[in-house]
Amino acid sequence: MLDAMTSQLTSPAPDLADSRPGAEWWRTTVIYQIYPRSFADASGDGIGDLPGVTAHLDDLTSLGVDAIWLSPFYRSPQKDAGYDVADYCDVDPLFGTLTDFDAMLDAAHARGIRVIVDLVPNHSSDRHVWFQEALASAPGSTARGRYLFRDGAGENGELPPNNWESVFGGPAWTRVTEPDGTPGQWYLHLFDTSQPDFDWSNPEVQESFRGILRFWLDRGVDGFRVDVAHGLVKTDGLPDHLPPVDGDSMGGHDEAPYWGQEGVHEIYRDWHRVLAEYDGDRALCAEAWLPTVDRTAEWVRSDEMHQAFNFPYLMTEWQAPAIREVISESLRAFPAVGAPATWVLSNHDVVRHASRLALTAENPQGHGIGPDSPGQPIPDLGLRRARAATSIMLALPGSAYLYQGEELGLPEVIDLPDAARQDPTWFRTDGERYGRDGCRVPIPWTASAPAYGFGPADGSGASWLPQPAEWETLARDVQEDDPDSTLWLYRELLATRRAEDLGAGSLTWLHGYEDDVIAFRNGEVTVIANLGTRPLPLPSGTVLVASEPIAGAELPVDTAVWLRAE
Ligand code: NOJ
Repeated sequence: MLDAMTSQLTSPAPDLADSRPGAEWWRTTVIYQIYPRSFADASGDGIGDLPGVTAHLDDLTSLGVDAIWLSPFYRSPQKDAGYDVADYCDVDPLFGTLTDFDAMLDAAHARGIRVIVDLVPNHSSDRHVWFQEALASAPGSTARGRYLFRDGAGENGELPPNNWESVFGGPAWTRVTEPDGTPGQWYLHLFDTSQPDFDWSNPEVQESFRGILRFWLDRGVDGFRVDVAHGLVKTDGLPDHLPPVDGDSMGGHDEAPYWGQEGVHEIYRDWHRVLAEYDGDRALCAEAWLPTVDRTAEWVRSDEMHQAFNFPYLMTEWQAPAIREVISESLRAFPAVGAPATWVLSNHDVVRHASRLALTAENPQGHGIGPDSPGQPIPDLGLRRARAATSIMLALPGSAYLYQGEELGLPEVIDLPDAARQDPTWFRTDGERYGRDGCRVPIPWTASAPAYGFGPADGSGASWLPQPAEWETLARDVQEDDPDSTLWLYRELLATRRAEDLGAGSLTWLHGYEDDVIAFRNGEVTVIANLGTRPLPLPSGTVLVASEPIAGAELPVDTAVWLRAE
């Protein structure tokens, strides 16, 4: 059966020791996302920090990842968990100091782990010195010109300038009180009111971000994950969104006058040139929520960004034909512009895939799930599918992203107390959308320790979101002792991926299987995943890794296996 008719899709296949173009690290790398406030709390204030990251780097080495991406740790009032930046060139005291950052970077590099930091260019915090200056200045001033201030509509300017809605719910405009106390202009915020959008046609804004890039590049970072990379440029004149939408999506709306505008590409060409001034293959990764793989690939043309998250892959349901299609499209569209395909299943904005893959109701990005959401996931089914899904993903050519805690099989926390929730989505929709707190709960390291080892051993500091009692059995130290654990599975997948150089490989679909089976070969590794409803005869070969224990000659339902053909 393995020799059945095949079709081949290629991806760049660099030799990692080769420094010619095409061999850059980011083409094949596995990047582990650290959400610092929920990773490890060394200071005991209940919020994770940079020394906590440094303390756990050996755990990442033993997991087998190549790089880390850290969500924002910059000075911020934390209205959107740090995606509201008040000072782009300093560490918030919650997370430590610049010296802690440098120590973490050095320690990661000493272990061969590359470090990507988050850049948030669409908006700043309302506490940023520029926005404070804008509020204190007159309409039409230089200070207002760095943001998108406009006069209101209506007889007395009492209506928002247009009908745009915030991604977090409610209008995307807030009216200010002018320094003389009169009701004044409005400013645009595609996200929370505390996140005013910059005006990217302003050369001062452009120059400022070149400086921010250089600040972190000079410190030695390997690259940037670029927040809302599809949103910086708005259509001239800020016309109404027609037809009006409630802003419930980060970018499913292809026609929105603020997503995916042509002008953003010039910004990334400019940044590409800044990164090219530095040695060591520094990289930009676009967080661009676009409706198709082909649109996403526009962000990674050879003179723009280096990677873009493959959100169409993340959003694909647990259906073999749909998964095959998005893989094929990705392996066509990204290499066609000279970029690697990327793969991702979880991050800090979506329902964790150990729950999402067993949901039976639609769950738009950012809405989250809570006790009253329709289509509640079946936990065991979700985890089983998640293990199989990751086994498929890590066998694919290109670069893959993991989100902290998925290596422990953590599910979404559905029953957080309302009083604990902190996502602005929850507040801006009056609790109609639960938001993203359920995927951000601090991760469990040690079953018997306070806060499961997330904080100091003396128990100082409660974790900023409560951890469920069931997580005792999912703590990393418990999984260390269990060869059937998700942690062991991730380690085996990552070690085999590296040994077989799968990231640099190419994919060949294997035909002759039922439609609900995903079957492909990458190099010497054959991957078979059974997404059907009954067990499959297991093809002959040596089992390298299996997402569930395999007994006998059958591949159970919702299970994936990596085989070496005999
Ligand atoms: C995308 C980030 O991933 C998300 O967490 C944040 O709320 C928005 N961008 C706004 O910065």
